Amino acid sequence: MHCRKCPRSAVIKMPRHNTALCKDCFTEFVRTQVRRAIASHRMFTADDRILVAVSGGKDSLALWSILLQLGYRADALYVNLGIGDYSVQSRQKVQRFTDTVAAPYRVTLHIHTIEQEQGAGIRELATLVRRPTCAACGTMKRYQFNRVAVERDYDVMATGHNLDDEAARLLGNVLHWQTDYLDKQAPVLPASLDGFAKKVKPLHRLTEREIAAYALLHRIDYIVDECPMAKGSKLLAYKHALNQLEMESPGTKQNFYLQFLERRAASPDAHHTMAEQDRQHLHPCTACGQPTSAEVCSYCRMMARARAEAGAPAH
Ligand code: AMP
Ligand code: FES
Ligand code: ZN
Repeated sequence: MHCRKCPRSAVIKMPRHNTALCKDCFTEFVRTQVRRAIASHRMFTADDRILVAVSGGKDSLALWSILLQLGYRADALYVNLGIGDYSVQSRQKVQRFTDTVAAPYRVTLHIHTIEQEQGAGIRELATLVRRPTCAACGTMKRYQFNRVAVERDYDVMATGHNLDDEAARLLGNVLHWQTDYLDKQAPVLPASLDGFAKKVKPLHRLTEREIAAYALLHRIDYIVDECPMAKGSKLLAYKHALNQLEMESPGTKQNFYLQFLERRAASPDAHHTMAEQDRQHLHPCTACGQPTSAEVCSYCRMMARARAEAGAPAH
């Protein structure tokens, strides 16, 4: 099989683009998709300081490496959730990547360890507050990502969410008509007010398979296992369903998600919305000062409940 762009041998078939590419042309394709995402959503410029949230997985490590290669100033944040062996291994992957691939760029890796701050890992905290681990983990990560970005004065926070993640989330939101979440589902969330970091997803045009291939071709050493808590999650079921459809008709995933973004951008009341709504509804949490629509933010409520439960007598 030949590359469709040059005489070399192809290393990857890409049915959604009806093409096959060699390593160099594929690498260029991936970088072009990232550049396009950054430019078309005005994510950041070469002057901005970017904080990449890295989990040790393929997406976030690939993102960090691509941003550095494209010449951006990108540091990273790893949140150690204390999920046994999974966290030990993912932390090692992040550290190794920082010491090797990222080292020539003189980057900083911030590590936030939940156990150090809260005295317990995310599974114990979730049990204390009687919430599913992934839900408690989501609240925790969002909070820490935002806090570190704001406190350390980064211009923007980037995560490794890819096309599969975003299409699966969109499918879930549509199936349940969660219109509030639909409004918030965007590759860019603006820094609408003080204490709220701008958040971006520069990999949203690339599929999980493409990013895995990129990581493999560029010898990025990442943690292959999914978080053990994610087993049986709804999002995985939606990803699976979309993959079935994608096999039947290539391009389904990208049409579903990217056309959702295009149609929304074209609607007349599209853009005053998010930043305006945030400004109207958000104010500082009375406990920690981070923006929230309630009096006390969901993170502070969760932690207060965990403290109360930990101190409560057993019955
Ligand atoms: P997930 O929700 O696990 O699919 O992760 C989505 C994105 O969140 C990843 O691509 C990372 O950018 C970020 N992320 C997830 N877990 C962590 C973590 N423990 N520390 C830092 N960033 C993370
Ligand atoms: Fe949060 Fe698995 S990464 S529960
Ligand atoms: Zn708070």
